[in-house]
Amino acid sequence: MSDDLLIHPAAEGDEGEYQAGRHGHGHIKSFVRRAGRMSEAQQRHFAEMMPKIGIPYQPTAIDLDAVYGRNAPKILEIGCGMGETTAKIADANPQNDYFGLEVHVPGVGALCKLIAEKELTNLRIGHHDAVEVVRDMLPEASLAGIHIFFPDPWHKARHNKRRLVQPPFVALLASRLKPGAYLHCATDWENYALQMLDVLGREPSLENSVANPSTVELALALAADSSAGLAGFAPRPDYRPLTKFENRGLRLGHGVWDLIFKKR
Ligand SMILES: C[S@@+](CC[C@H](N)C(=O)[O-])C[C@H]1O[C@@H](n2cnc3c(N)ncnc32)[C@H](O)[C@@H]1O
Repeated sequence: MSDDLLIHPAAEGDEGEYQAGRHGHGHIKSFVRRAGRMSEAQQRHFAEMMPKIGIPYQPTAIDLDAVYGRNAPKILEIGCGMGETTAKIADANPQNDYFGLEVHVPGVGALCKLIAEKELTNLRIGHHDAVEVVRDMLPEASLAGIHIFFPDPWHKARHNKRRLVQPPFVALLASRLKPGAYLHCATDWENYALQMLDVLGREPSLENSVANPSTVELALALAADSSAGLAGFAPRPDYRPLTKFENRGLRLGHGVWDLIFKKR
């Protein structure tokens, strides 16, 4: 495999640093670069597909309709992983255009393979930090929806600061949504679900699609009582397919929480 397709662990000191943003949206990296090897098929599809369907990072705003060659709703997904859900959603919704972001190179290779196999024309990939892509490339009020499915939970307290769903990034995401557009997060970590509920609920330009509980304690009590809607969590919408991992978790009695907020 050629060396440029292998991401090496970042140089010491590169992780966890505050990155000053162009418009004041600084952030701590929500991921750690892992050395990742692609299978031969992933590598071949990466090399063939990325020049065609990749959207390279640039530090200036892009015209999304021009990129996709049509005027259709644009939906961003942050952290596609291996891309199964991303490809399924794009395949089932040809009326929308999807932009998947993923930093882990085998995931990008796997999604390239799915795009080639399913011959999807409405799904493009960005192989770059989502915070920088949203901050620098996406115009205000340009998106019909944003998906953040099972973001890294960073469950140790000292790592919580790396979680993607934090107030400054949520404010930035909200600014990229059109009025009435949605932000959909899902997680299987109760503690992160409650953080999401708290952070999304505090963003003034967003409104919960289901009734908001008055306190996080009430949300927790209601969620434990499986009154998910009352607790501020949404039922899983049909467009989000159940993953194998999630299915197994649900069978073992683990919870999954969906949060769907609308831009005012
Ligand atoms: C736990 S995985 C979930 C993947 C997928 N959404 C799923 O449901 O299976 C989270 C993914 O988000 C990616 N990720 C984390 N921070 C990111 C960022 N700032 N920009 C792009 N991708 C990111 C990680 O590389 C990882 O693949």
